[in-house]
Amino acid sequence: MIKAATHESIQEAAEMIKSGGVVAFPTETVYGLGANALDGQAVAKIFAAKNRPSINPIIIHVSSREDAQKYVEVDARAKGLMAAFWPGPLTMILPRKAGGGVSELVSAGLDTIAIRMPNHPVALELIRCAGVPIAAPSANASGEPSATTPRHVMDSLGQRIPMILAGGACSVGLESTVLDLSGDVPVIVRAGAITAQDLEEYLGDVSYDFGNHDKPKSPGQLLKHYAPSIPVRLNAVDVEEGEGLLAFGSTKFMGVKTGGFANQWGDAKFKNLSEGGDLIEAAANLFTMLRDLDNAENKGIAVMNIPDVGIGIAINDRLKRAAQGR
Ligand code: TXA
Ligand code: MG
Repeated sequence: MIKAATHESIQEAAEMIKSGGVVAFPTETVYGLGANALDGQAVAKIFAAKNRPSINPIIIHVSSREDAQKYVEVDARAKGLMAAFWPGPLTMILPRKAGGGVSELVSAGLDTIAIRMPNHPVALELIRCAGVPIAAPSANASGEPSATTPRHVMDSLGQRIPMILAGGACSVGLESTVLDLSGDVPVIVRAGAITAQDLEEYLGDVSYDFGNHDKPKSPGQLLKHYAPSIPVRLNAVDVEEGEGLLAFGSTKFMGVKTGGFANQWGDAKFKNLSEGGDLIEAAANLFTMLRDLDNAENKGIAVMNIPDVGIGIAINDRLKRAAQGR
């Protein structure tokens, strides 16, 4: 059931979390499917609802920097980043703190825990009311594009979860940047709105490892992700028969192989991530537009080139995985 987020409905959701249930809730990145991170049976319900492989660990969400120290070992680097970027779309992978009580299921047996403090009033109030850290992956069935509106959550998981707290569309629209701080060299294992450049101000050199090899740093890198049910074709310079178009920037010269111009099509076949070529706007629209174009009128989705700079790196990462299919 979708419920508008109010103090009452947030309180109700917090009670459900406390008593071992799962609830979907908004964050600034994407909707999360939350459960008490200290309760293994509750966390197991997340894996079941999403059909998530049990090897894939889950991020825990806290409502303050101080609370983070209860569950993970916070070194000077992490402390600096928390001061600079929390609340916000930065997840840090840190050593699990002995006695912190986070369920082993959350970290899928690893000795690290991924943690963040979301920048969304509903998420923060929910965590505070529940009084426990909330384990939450994106609120979509495993493999699908992440949910950035209550409607997406409903379409994807509505039959499997009791409650969706609705707080509008997510402002960032892409999952958080995941930074592995468990070793000496900081490594970005998932690109997001906070870029390597942003982090380098605080850390010196930061490297990337998106796991396109056989020893990935983050189990999630192994898995198929973000994929619509129809094929996605990248860097399209024209549109082939049967395809819909996901555009970026000017579409003046975007021809259709069978004749005509894609920008004269209706809404079911043509979407523009950002007419003005703004990457932040494009990120916020990405998952919604991929879902919208995944309809009966299209046999596939052609996607125009997106510049590989700033948050464009994160957009391209998601698109490449989407293009690998389900
Ligand atoms: O923005 C976000 O991060 C959203 C919202 C709800 O906070 N959550 C999200 O969770 O995207 P999820 O489960 O869809 O992605 C978490 C990623 C996965 O790729 C997982 O493998 C990785 O983080 N991860 C989690 N814990 C880890 C750990 N201890 N070590 C390495 N990777 C980890
Ligand atoms: Mg996910």
